[in-house]
Amino acid sequence: MEFKNVKMELKEGTALITIDRPKFLNALNRETLKELDQILEEVKANEEAKAVIITGAGEKAFVAGADISEMKDMKPLEAKEFGEFGQKVFRKIELMKKPVIAAVNGYALGGGCELAMACDIRIASHNAKFGQPEVGLGIIPGFGGTQRLPRIVGISKAKELIYTGDMIDAEEALRIGLVSKVVEQNKLLEETYKIAKKIMTKGMIAISLAKEAINASIDTVIDTGMSYEAKAFAVCFATEDQKEGMAAFLEKRAPKFVGK
Ligand code: CAA
Repeated sequence: MEFKNVKMELKEGTALITIDRPKFLNALNRETLKELDQILEEVKANEEAKAVIITGAGEKAFVAGADISEMKDMKPLEAKEFGEFGQKVFRKIELMKKPVIAAVNGYALGGGCELAMACDIRIASHNAKFGQPEVGLGIIPGFGGTQRLPRIVGISKAKELIYTGDMIDAEEALRIGLVSKVVEQNKLLEETYKIAKKIMTKGMIAISLAKEAINASIDTVIDTGMSYEAKAFAVCFATEDQKEGMAAFLEKRAPKFVGK
């Protein structure tokens, strides 16, 4: 299927998803969110796609937020529907069994910061800027920002960022743990692919179970999370990858994982 605002390219086991509305700094209107949703479904179903990278087109923005011109005249019920749809699409990323990395190549504001936060790992270029500027528009973050930002950076810093609407640069984002790494812009995709490739050398069932167990830690009390981890740990022992991984270690050779 041809998409207008989102592109997907599958390369060496990694699906590269690009939000592609550079004229509007990749702002997310309904159409773009719908396309992203469909592309995520395709990527989920595609067995060749082992890992996913999400980035923005152009050199200026990852995603500069939800589309303000589209939101301007929304009635409360329309806004609820729009917010819930954005939440649903981003939750799909968070719950996807494949690892998803955000390559943040510029402004990640509002819905853009929220998109990056729904990914498992965030790598930023030096020119990246993060923020939740919604209160300056008389609204609050609506695609999960009030829930994910405090979980990632802590309640106090999240409140400061959301109440002031301040933008922070990539170095500050690194300092507060919002991103894992900051690299030169012309190396951003290369570095992000490197991480995806490294992950793909591991047992992919284990990666997906680790993702589920970590997600469970956030959504439940610790004892429920521990019980979830114990079950996921046990499931690993039903895989060929576990047998191969441990045998390879003991035989002092590199493992050959098959994802089974
Ligand atoms: N929605 C719609 N259009 C946007 C946009 C957005 N979020 N962000 C940028 N654009 C458009 C601009 O209107 C402009 O279009 P025109 O050329 O037709 O005028 C074009 O993209 C380029 O932007 P600027 O001229 O503003 O570029 P700049 O370099 O001067 O500034 C910027 C860059 C600081 C990112 C500025 O564009 C900006 O502040 N954008 C809005 C950021 C924002 O408030 N995001 C939050 C949106 S609300 C939200 O996301 C709610 C939610 O949680 C779901």
